[in-house]
Amino acid sequence: MFKNIIVRRPAKSICDGITSAPELGKPIYEKAIQQHDDYIAALKKCGCEVKVLEALEEFPDSCFVEDTAVLTPNVAIISRPGAESRRNETEYMIPTIKEFYPEDKIEYIKAPGTMEGGDVMMVGNHFYIGKSDRTNEEGCRQFIEILEKYGHTGSIVTLEEMLHLKTGVNYLENNNLLVSGEFLTKEEFKKYNQYEIPVGEDYAANCIWVNDKVIVPEGYPKVKEMVESMGYEVITVDTSEYRKIDGGLSCLSLRFSSLK
Ligand code: GLY
Repeated sequence: MFKNIIVRRPAKSICDGITSAPELGKPIYEKAIQQHDDYIAALKKCGCEVKVLEALEEFPDSCFVEDTAVLTPNVAIISRPGAESRRNETEYMIPTIKEFYPEDKIEYIKAPGTMEGGDVMMVGNHFYIGKSDRTNEEGCRQFIEILEKYGHTGSIVTLEEMLHLKTGVNYLENNNLLVSGEFLTKEEFKKYNQYEIPVGEDYAANCIWVNDKVIVPEGYPKVKEMVESMGYEVITVDTSEYRKIDGGLSCLSLRFSSLK
């Protein structure tokens, strides 16, 4: 269960966020703010306390706080984003992490390692880490070393196509895994109850489990129905403006339970 959530308000500069899909157009700030309000309301409905950080205009992608850290039950790991324009977002996150984790339970990915939290999927005590364009081999190595020091385990999943691991695969607890694209054939995911994302709804592979409810992006009816069929209460939130810059539901928050 998660008690705490950290989010950061989108900046007006969100229209300059990194994107692989310019054909979708630029995010509309006012709409992004409304969707962010709805997202926070959904998280509160899941019983979490939500800490809302102020927007950082100099970082267009900084609302995607998930990439700045991985917050486990035993340790907070501050990332080192692979995207240069995002690298210093972590500096603005560290003081907040210190409100929730004691200093001796905070670790850091160091150069030349790179790592983004979107590449990390937690399954109980085990953490899958995607080796991607954003998370390099050295980042994976440091990450797993830190996990093991704190009683967790980790393993690498090599990405060929997707931006982040959780762009295409998400764990919904109870052995249930939403899977799409290149992850459908990965041996390490065969042991889970795999739910294949229907063609045309790929974006909705990025759903989040929060305390037995599942938040699903609005506008993907087949995925919504599939998640409901697993027995979860579903909350939908429109994330159309974030999708325009490769962002999804998981990217917009850090979900954890404070160690303080
Ligand atoms: N636009 C989100 C990212 O590239 O990290």
